[in-house]
Amino acid sequence: MANPKQALKENATGNFFVDSTCINCGVSRHYAPDVFGDTGTHAFVKRQPQSASDELAAQQALLACPVGSIGTREKRDLRAAVDSFPLEMAPSIYLNGFNHRKSWGAHSYFIQSSGGNWLIDSPRFVSPLVDKFTALGGIEYIFLTHSDDVADAHRYARRFNAKRIIHRLEAQAQNDAEIILEGESDHVIGSGRILFTPGHTRGHLMLLWNDRYLFTGDHLAWLPNLNRFGSFRDACWYSWEKQIESVDKLKVCGEVEWVFPGHGKWGRVAKGDFPAIIDRAAQSMREQ
Ligand SMILES: [Fe+2]
Repeated sequence: MANPKQALKENATGNFFVDSTCINCGVSRHYAPDVFGDTGTHAFVKRQPQSASDELAAQQALLACPVGSIGTREKRDLRAAVDSFPLEMAPSIYLNGFNHRKSWGAHSYFIQSSGGNWLIDSPRFVSPLVDKFTALGGIEYIFLTHSDDVADAHRYARRFNAKRIIHRLEAQAQNDAEIILEGESDHVIGSGRILFTPGHTRGHLMLLWNDRYLFTGDHLAWLPNLNRFGSFRDACWYSWEKQIESVDKLKVCGEVEWVFPGHGKWGRVAKGDFPAIIDRAAQSMREQ
């Protein structure tokens, strides 16, 4: 619960505020970029919501914030915002919200599929999401991109009798996972192609769904400030060189239309543009 007594002095006057517990994970700006800004060390309210869509986005940011640093000075009815999650971003592809403190606020996703539904990394285990996932047909697989973002995966696995998928090199974070992948080759499960993409961590995996939707973990994200896709060198825990190689190999994914990262902003890709986007991302990584 955000504390108005700890509100940051940079906040614009008005109802919404960010307090000093903010970890500056960026999630608020992903949901409501017109409302939340970046002081360099914290998020802050740069402009109070001006419209109904601004207000909803700010409320979604409040619910998604992993550390409860966003508050309102007057009580707000958040039911519509709670009910908006998971948000359908593309047909049968959802953004879960309710980001977890344990994964430092990583985004997580849900795919509804006739071959069994997938959870991609893990949100907080909260009853509104559990109810929605149940209504959408439960969870068959929980795909874990890497060890950082497992959060409440074990609780969802238990609740839905789901199979957790993780690479052997990350399995210390979920050593009772039902499916532990070995080696460096791709694996195909239903409409999902699992790609081995070491760099951010040693056993990092990505999921390419139906050739069009790429779940990139902490490997690649849209960088709004730079107006391009790229990676975070200051959050590379294993090998920047390997990460560049792993980005480069995505050039073959020519039909990608959406990138859904753990950390960083999700991004739309114009049809056929992905190989050139990857070329640019890899080139800029080499220059960093
Ligand atoms: Fe990570």
